[in-house]
Amino acid sequence: MRAVVTGGAGFIGSHVCERLLHDGHEVVCVDNFLTSSVDNIEHLMDDHRFRLVPEDVTEGLDVPGPVDAVLHLASPASPVDYLRLPLETLRVGSAGTWHALDLAAAKGARFLLASTSESYGDPLVHPQPEGYWGHVNPVGPRSVYDEAKRFGESLATAFRRNRGVDAKIVRIFNTFGPRMRPDDGRAIPTFIRQALRGDPITVTGDGSQTRSLCYVDDLVDGLLRMLASSHGGPVNLGNPHEVSMLELAQWIGKLTRTTSRITLIPRPQDDPERRRPDITLARQVLQWEPRTPVETGLCDTIADFRRRVDAEEGRRIGSPVTAPPLHSEVMS
Ligand SMILES: NC(=O)c1ccc[n+]([C@@H]2O[C@H](COP(=O)([O-])OP(=O)(O)OC[C@H]3O[C@@H](n4cnc5c(N)ncnc54)[C@H](O)[C@@H]3O)[C@@H](O)[C@H]2O)c1
Repeated sequence: MRAVVTGGAGFIGSHVCERLLHDGHEVVCVDNFLTSSVDNIEHLMDDHRFRLVPEDVTEGLDVPGPVDAVLHLASPASPVDYLRLPLETLRVGSAGTWHALDLAAAKGARFLLASTSESYGDPLVHPQPEGYWGHVNPVGPRSVYDEAKRFGESLATAFRRNRGVDAKIVRIFNTFGPRMRPDDGRAIPTFIRQALRGDPITVTGDGSQTRSLCYVDDLVDGLLRMLASSHGGPVNLGNPHEVSMLELAQWIGKLTRTTSRITLIPRPQDDPERRRPDITLARQVLQWEPRTPVETGLCDTIADFRRRVDAEEGRRIGSPVTAPPLHSEVMS
């Protein structure tokens, strides 16, 4: 298979590229490095089956030669990024998705849209099944991301219905793992960065808001199962195990053995209260569910961050990550 991965230099995209190459496929990675760096794909550059196209997908997407699959991941994804880049986010979710779908239509390729649990907004139904239409503030600050993704879902569905494109939609819930940017503002990278530096671990609100956390290898496995399936989606991909932000901060504090204290700070506007995927459909149609224990994923992520923080700052705080403590020990 020859696959085009837009946003292939990003956190999830780089793992997708890596896995596709590992499985014996050719990869064309299209990325303008808006929210990532070439460091994420440096290790893939020597592989003759890997090609980097350093372009903006909103300007058009022309890939010569055959293409069997288009995986459209290009988009700012963390709140810090899309609040800083509102118009770029709307443009890549609309024009960028359109170009990626046009490419799939022209090449007769399968298409996969990386949509998001943010399509559900601040949900009134819990956990969220795919049939729930969501609770989104269309003019709130997060709308640039939520509505761009909802438009992308609508567009992919129209290409499926009217242009015969084998378009699939996955709604990704919070995913974490190595190669997240330490400054991307999401809870796990923020807490790990703060813990490794010995800075206060900043939890928003009273920390009772929850997220469900899926390790990136599991997520990538779900994406590729979806690509191979005959199902159009949307299909939720995420870990139904729910963790409060306060528990997560305590957990990371223990795993990093930091001296940092937890500090409560104000919550951002429209920050969802709870998020948990209903993955019944993914279990049924993809035979997929997350397999990596969250603490194992956290240890891998902490080790990756420690390497990068060390490289950047030349100093180490806390002791090395060793075997993870038992879950119950951590959460107590
Ligand atoms: N990480 C998560 O928890 C999560 C959750 C839900 C959905 N998603 C979706 O998964 C995808 C990847 O997310 P991520 O966490 O890896 O984010 P990321 O910011 O690390 O990666 C996004 C990549 O897209 C690239 N990009 C952005 N605009 C572009 C453009 N116009 N042209 C070319 N490249 C462009 C960026 O440079 C970056 O490499 C996104 O579409 C995101 O919405 C991620």
